[in-house]
Amino acid sequence: MSSVIFSGNSNQHLSKEISSILGLSLGKVEIIHFADSECRVRIQEDVEGKDVFIIQSLSNPVDEHLMELLLLADAVKRGEPRKITAVLPYYGYARQDRIHRHGECLSAQVVAKMIEVVGFDKLITVELHNEAILGFFKIPVIHISGLSVFLEAVNDLKDVVVVTPDAGALKRAQNFSDDLNLPLALIEKKRDLDHPHKISSMKVVGDVAGKTAVIVDDVIVTGGTLVNAAFLLKQEGAKQVVALATHADFVGGADKILKESPVDKVWVTDTIHLPLKMHFSKLQIFPSASLIAAAIRKMIK
Ligand code: R5P
Repeated sequence: MSSVIFSGNSNQHLSKEISSILGLSLGKVEIIHFADSECRVRIQEDVEGKDVFIIQSLSNPVDEHLMELLLLADAVKRGEPRKITAVLPYYGYARQDRIHRHGECLSAQVVAKMIEVVGFDKLITVELHNEAILGFFKIPVIHISGLSVFLEAVNDLKDVVVVTPDAGALKRAQNFSDDLNLPLALIEKKRDLDHPHKISSMKVVGDVAGKTAVIVDDVIVTGGTLVNAAFLLKQEGAKQVVALATHADFVGGADKILKESPVDKVWVTDTIHLPLKMHFSKLQIFPSASLIAAAIRKMIK
């Protein structure tokens, strides 16, 4: 059974790496954005009877990347493939995974519905903000943990305590600390829901004094969570703070605040393309292509 991989525009570099690991070339596709921001796509490959994979990270600008994904799916479906799989190295809208206040929408579920309604048969994704999102899908979902790429590097550090930056991320940090048999500390973080990105209070629970505190998170956006956590951890006596997150969906300025913060190292993966101008010396980007390629390989062999 032959397979074709198409890529949206969000992370062409990662798509190329994944397809090269699989020994496939990327399918030809034309994606045009008109002056009014509407998008038009056209696939230029025969997909009839084939297994098709569409790789697209739903990173900033998320709506543009989501729309490209949906239109690509429609174009592919019209070519009568055997099966079509969405490969989302980063699932945007995942943080809107529940109704926080009366009157809000359940955005992570709306995205799931859109993915299903355009005809995807399966989803492969990495490090969802909350595994509960899996329950929004009727189609099968392969959920890959991106944190495994950091295990070896963390194992090489001395006197480590794993830190969860908020209660919502506890299970992820717990699994990570269990994998390495390391102690765990928790930061209690409260957000100001009336002001996006604003944190109202933070408190450390656990012993971090004299240790290398490794904060484990799913995504960095403004960098606010990590920087505030790092200040607090250093105040509590941590000798080094390493912040690791699977996804780096940096907004403008995140690179600067992280660079100038008490965070000593920032480790992320390349599930989201980070332009060179956002790189800084404390930042290390770990490759994720082989994890994603392995999940695809299981489906095409
Ligand atoms: C929050 O629940 C997430 O897991 C991240 O901690 C958060 O979204 C990171 O955002 P920022 O970098 O803007 O603080």
